[in-house]
Amino acid sequence: MRPSSLVVVANRLPLDDNIAPDGACEWRRSPGGLASALHAILQQTPATWVGWSGAIGPSPKLPSIGSLRLRPVALTEQEQSGYYEGFANSTLWPLYHDAVQQPVFQREWWETYRAVNQRFAEAAAEVAGRHAAVWVQDYHLQLVPQMLRELRPDLLIGFFMHVPFPPPELFMQLPRRIELLVGMLGADLVGFQREQAGHNLAQLAQKLLGAEATDDAITVGGRTVRTGAFPVSIDVAEMRALAARPDVVGQARQLRHDLGESKRILLSVDRLDYTKGIEHRLTAYRELLRDGHVKVRDTVLVQVAVPSREGVDSYRDLRDRIEGEVGRINGEYGRVGEPAIHYLNQRFDRALLAALYQVADVMVVTPLRDGMNLVAKEFVAAREDESGALVLSEFAGAAAELSAAFLVNPHDLDDLKQTLLRAMEADPADLSARMRAMRAHLAEHDIMAWARAYLTALDHTGRLARRLPRTG
Ligand code: G6P
Repeated sequence: MRPSSLVVVANRLPLDDNIAPDGACEWRRSPGGLASALHAILQQTPATWVGWSGAIGPSPKLPSIGSLRLRPVALTEQEQSGYYEGFANSTLWPLYHDAVQQPVFQREWWETYRAVNQRFAEAAAEVAGRHAAVWVQDYHLQLVPQMLRELRPDLLIGFFMHVPFPPPELFMQLPRRIELLVGMLGADLVGFQREQAGHNLAQLAQKLLGAEATDDAITVGGRTVRTGAFPVSIDVAEMRALAARPDVVGQARQLRHDLGESKRILLSVDRLDYTKGIEHRLTAYRELLRDGHVKVRDTVLVQVAVPSREGVDSYRDLRDRIEGEVGRINGEYGRVGEPAIHYLNQRFDRALLAALYQVADVMVVTPLRDGMNLVAKEFVAAREDESGALVLSEFAGAAAELSAAFLVNPHDLDDLKQTLLRAMEADPADLSARMRAMRAHLAEHDIMAWARAYLTALDHTGRLARRLPRTG
């Protein structure tokens, strides 16, 4: 493979699950934000993406996507279990999300996590040209920056954490906390979604490594690592264009008809994950039905729960609980031909999502903790009509930017119920003022602005940022 001057390293390659017999592949729009976000930038930028294809065993030979070359990292079944399902998604993921689910730590997972990180670092070192920039993504690969620095001191190394980075009280629980910290600090620039995460890292580096730290720099072992907040976003232009497509508008009309012309439609779209607060939301909705504040004849909730990490016990258990609760609510409050909740546990086509966003009267995004939440931003981008209410958790990174939403503490059931009612009953003029403010913010802060801000901070010169496509 020819050396690249920009290399992105992320756990997942943005590939379709099914690679056609002729080897052709398509962008797979991951249900998570990371691949969606990078997709917008990289398909038009000469670069190499190092990542896992999502399948077990040797990787097939992958063709390039546009100007983007793909360098697969193969995982064995044991590696998928110890590195991806184990240390990344059963230890770090719950701990970084306020431990809303008890983190699990098994000693043998650590060795696998370390070994797989080493392989990602070696793959990146192999494809990176001299003095190239390597941009490492997320909690799966926290050891890669330092490993890469040891292999290739000539490289410019960036690290971006898409998920929250927790306060010291939580991080201190982690066995191997020092190695994890040293791993990230191998980068030249560590980026987060929110400023608080940078303060958390600075405090930890002071406490555990005796580093000197300011608001945006950490000096340890004679080297200075810069830190900063770069809130990730979406391809606003792409979502607007999708929402305006005649077939999508037609699909939205059909959905509105199918769900009930005069009904108030509440919509939630999440990966099926315990951080997303789906159970709290269902409880609030059940109580609103029970109290008679919401009636099935005039309101319906559509809950899309995209399957995710199904090999992990806690995700399987969550699915059982959610499906039990949806069944109970529909059993108790539904009428013939009129369920209280439409529940869809499937991957969703983006065009259908864009249609759903347009028919929602109230978009309900209430995670217990979320690095950013791009669904909230997609909903706003899709609402050319400047109507519709967004109920948004204070614990989503997006709340810092979309402050004109109806902000809510999803842990507080009464607040959740009252906020849902306020959003359902809001005055249309108030709703459009809020929507206009959120759309104005998004227009200025799209995915390209994010990548440009990060890459400019990484290399100072603007050389990397200039290689990005001009528009989203
Ligand atoms: C979050 C993470 C991403 C991850 C995505 C989907 O957004 O920050 O790194 O790719 O979830 O999860 P999955 O485990 O399917 O990759």
